[in-house]
Amino acid sequence: MKKILVTGGLGFIGSHTVVELQEAGFEVVIIDNLLNSKIEVLDNIEKITSQKPEFFNLDLRNKKDVNHFFNTNLIDGIIHFAASKAVGESVEKPLEYYENNINSLVYLLQEMRDHNISNFIFSSSCTVYGQASELPITENSPVKPAESPYGNTKQIGEEIIKDTCKADHLNAIALRYFNPIGAHESIKIGELPLGVPQNLIPYITQTAAGIRKQLSVFGNDYNTPDGTAIRDYIHVVDLAKAHIAALQRLLDKKNNQKFEYFNVGTGKGSSVLEIIHAFENVTQQELNYQIVGRREGDVTAAYADTTKAQSELNWKTEKTLDEALKSAWEWQKRQS
Ligand code: UD1
Repeated sequence: MKKILVTGGLGFIGSHTVVELQEAGFEVVIIDNLLNSKIEVLDNIEKITSQKPEFFNLDLRNKKDVNHFFNTNLIDGIIHFAASKAVGESVEKPLEYYENNINSLVYLLQEMRDHNISNFIFSSSCTVYGQASELPITENSPVKPAESPYGNTKQIGEEIIKDTCKADHLNAIALRYFNPIGAHESIKIGELPLGVPQNLIPYITQTAAGIRKQLSVFGNDYNTPDGTAIRDYIHVVDLAKAHIAALQRLLDKKNNQKFEYFNVGTGKGSSVLEIIHAFENVTQQELNYQIVGRREGDVTAAYADTTKAQSELNWKTEKTLDEALKSAWEWQKRQS
């Protein structure tokens, strides 16, 4: 049985990926510092899969702890989620973002080199493309200067990994996520935003639940059919499965290059108003919303060309937008 380390394995995408890994027959060990996640998630993963992953409450910035972990655990591959991800916060605290996201990545890669571990999956983001000149966005679309320190940590992270692949025995895949939403069908794990949600779907579900008074729609003067911005919303379980496909590609040594990157989205764009109406339709909840000004740093439209992921990873999405929205709502209703 291959043993896979999942950093940030109690977070939103991490926890769903742990479930898929266990169901695919991998042994999972989680490192998480609980900075933006809850320990209960560990029990909830066990409720779904009947297997409790091994768990280490470690901070990857602590080089000594990380070294001790690798001296005492034999690992076949790493999926690295652990990172700070709030765009606005990263603008206010750039050094914290660089320290957390970059140092932890470098320490992990050093331990991989020193312990002869060669398979690495990195959480990247479609934010690296900025406003792409052509839609849908292929992997050939150029990487644009980052709009925020958070986005920059994804770009720099990819560069660090690429350089390490050249120098060492590392093989790596960066997955450039579009907009992950939804919850596991068991409704035992889902997204747990800290404080006021910054992302659209948790803001919508909290508004429907009465926790927030009103949803603000950031701009209706974009150059899109209804004037609101377009994104590619992907069910988190589909996204989790892309990690298993990428990991398997590395374990089977089927990768064409030592460093590869793939877009992970559905290929379909939805506007903010389309999302609101689809949510209302699928949940029979009326949403209180108003149009306000644009949010700084937002692009007009971003959706993926998924051809490369489909053909090389042999992966495609299986769930619909309606299923994703419904599961997000079911998850919201379970929160007290
Ligand atoms: C955001 C980040 C992106 C990050 C991703 C991670 C920004 C600028 N980008 O993507 O770098 O990788 O989250 O999850 O923050 N919207 C509203 N009202 C709201 C919230 C959002 O109208 O209350 C709109 C936004 O303007 C956008 C769309 O909904 O058009 C999606 O927003 P969001 O869920 O925050 O995702 P992104 O901005 O695409």
